[in-house]
Amino acid sequence: MIDLSGCEPFASGYNRHCYRHPDDPALCLKVLRPENIEARYQRQTWPKKALGRARIDDNRQELRAHRQTAISKLLMNNQSSLVWAHLPRFHGTADTSRGPANISELITDSNGSPAATFEHYLRHRGFDQPIQEAVQRFCTWLLQTGILTRNLLPHNLVIADRNGQPELFLVDGLGAPAIPDKLAAIPAWRRRYINRRIRRFYLRIDWETGNRTDTWEASQKL
Ligand SMILES: Nc1ncnc2c1ncn2[C@@H]1O[C@H](COP(=O)(O)OP(=O)(O)OP(=O)(O)O)[C@@H](O)[C@H]1O
Ligand SMILES: [Mg+2]
Repeated sequence: MIDLSGCEPFASGYNRHCYRHPDDPALCLKVLRPENIEARYQRQTWPKKALGRARIDDNRQELRAHRQTAISKLLMNNQSSLVWAHLPRFHGTADTSRGPANISELITDSNGSPAATFEHYLRHRGFDQPIQEAVQRFCTWLLQTGILTRNLLPHNLVIADRNGQPELFLVDGLGAPAIPDKLAAIPAWRRRYINRRIRRFYLRIDWETGNRTDTWEASQKL
């Protein structure tokens, strides 16, 4: 059991708190925020409630997402460095004093601090040339590997320097939970799905760097 009682999260999303592992600063521990999981559960309609709370457990979904066909095949074929080119290495689960955690590589900046998000970068530097090229490399990697993700959101990607250039790492939103495994195993179908995610990603970047007179949801209906 990992004791997190004296630890503060270095970052938190809506659903999870992220801690540096107290005994290994190279690792990130993600623990569910029970209050938000409960709020999400209560907002669901009754047929969805009947499916239980496990369905909205982001740690469980992430675990399943790492077992997706594209990742399993690449790992089996000794292509792990390709898998981890844009994903933090995943190390399974562990029990902590704040509940079960998913363990992953902590992506850091050149000072060893947790890396900044792509959202932060866009806000401060805009969609400049080096990051446009990083986005292109990330999207090429998605199509090359066939790895499925949910909608790509700038706050779920962080930026780290690799060989003197910025690279994007997807720290949240891996997998496509609503897609049946049989469909996800068809390469042509995967390509179409990924191209849709990429198109939406560019729309989202436009929205984040624009005037934002509309909410993201409203801007989608135009
Ligand atoms: N492996 C990592 N390396 C560095 N920073 C990370 C890592 N994982 C998460 N983070 C930071 O922690 C934040 C929250 O993590 P994460 O997105 O996994 O939480 P979440 O609650 O699932 O998010 P959401 O609100 O999108 O559901 C990220 O936006 C990122 O800034
Ligand atoms: Mg997130």
